[in-house]
Amino acid sequence: MTDDNGNNESSDRRDLGNVLRECHEKEAFNFALFQHNPSAITVVDREGKVVKSNLARRHAHDSLPELGRVLFSGDSECDIIMKSELKKTLEQNVVREVSDVRSGGHIFAYTLAPFTHGAIVIRQDITEHKRAEAQLVQAQKLAALGTLVSGVAHEVSNPNNVMLLSLKTIRRITDDLLPVLDEHKEKEGDFDLGIGPYSEIREDIPEMVASCYRAAERINRLVSDLKNYARKEDGEVRDLFDVNAVVQGASELMNSTISKATHHFSVTCADDLPPVKGAARRIEQVVINLLSNACQAVPNQDCAISLSTAYNPAANEVHIMVQDEGVGIPPEAVSQITDPFFTTKHDTGGTGLGLSISRQIVETHGGALVFSSAGGRGTLVTIALPVPRGSEEETA
Ligand SMILES: Nc1ncnc2c1ncn2[C@@H]1O[C@H](COP(=O)(O)OP(=O)(O)OP(=O)(O)O)[C@@H](O)[C@H]1O
Ligand SMILES: [Mg+2]
Repeated sequence: MTDDNGNNESSDRRDLGNVLRECHEKEAFNFALFQHNPSAITVVDREGKVVKSNLARRHAHDSLPELGRVLFSGDSECDIIMKSELKKTLEQNVVREVSDVRSGGHIFAYTLAPFTHGAIVIRQDITEHKRAEAQLVQAQKLAALGTLVSGVAHEVSNPNNVMLLSLKTIRRITDDLLPVLDEHKEKEGDFDLGIGPYSEIREDIPEMVASCYRAAERINRLVSDLKNYARKEDGEVRDLFDVNAVVQGASELMNSTISKATHHFSVTCADDLPPVKGAARRIEQVVINLLSNACQAVPNQDCAISLSTAYNPAANEVHIMVQDEGVGIPPEAVSQITDPFFTTKHDTGGTGLGLSISRQIVETHGGALVFSSAGGRGTLVTIALPVPRGSEEETA
């Protein structure tokens, strides 16, 4: 059938049906996109009043003004900033992006898009993203610091070795020279030596040389700690080793320091330990660092220090425990003690590298360094090392 204009009426009806179906599909699509969008979306009218919000916005941690109430009407810093941004969007009819808006411990990025009846406010929680970014920056800084440190360590190491070598020789020379000078003084009488009469500085000379030597040795230790810290790959042989042997070795090396620090030192080795894989010397270094911290933490020789090993079958880990009855670690410091250069021993020359190197070593072995300390009542440090698959059977 055709109308007065010669159009086909039934084909028009079909076209209209198609258009309606397409409209309906588009609307359903837009609705699903709006409702299930992971960003929190709020639609406001030209006065900034909430018209609707999607599921993500309604389920957000903070409450949304009820329908009909003005968005951003509070007096928080976030509301003040966003109110002015929304006003600009509505007046100027332009899309605005506002990032790093802080509210309720979260960081948000907003997109404000105008549309015929008002504006769409899209909010993304970028807290985690920002945190990861900050961690990456921190890691890059530490890596740069590592490179710098190893460069400086290298530069310091060479002249310091020259000093150490020369001071060793000077020490031997003075040992031989002093009796000669003593004899000379006996025969010829007292004489001036640089800063005063020989008789007055005679006793100080060996101590001056010895203190220079000790200082150079300290620089040497610091440099080697810094080198260890900066070293990423130690290139050492990684083999199965007996943790009990490492523990015994470390306690023997620390014997004189330990006996000065406490009268109550004990070593208890579990006899069911499976071997672990790694560089035994490096783990020994960690045990030495922990023992030396324990020795520095005990206020007198009545406070005990114990070193023990155990196998934890549930976690399939070997544990090395260093426990002391020392001053303990204050709760606020626990999160910092493995940071490079964190030390409370400025007066006694602590470098603050012991634990950061130790943690690095343990982590490259796939393990963890765990601290537990109730302030003022001693400290327990556990080195947890994973047992390689299959070697649980072989007891050391
Ligand atoms: N057993 C412990 N008891 C109490 N505090 C401890 C203990 N072990 C570590 N600490 C705290 O952690 C800090 C960091 O220890 P770390 O071994 O890294 O450096 P350090 O001992 O100060 O210096 P060094 O580089 O000479 O080892 C110490 O200064 C101390 O405050
Ligand atoms: Mg230390």
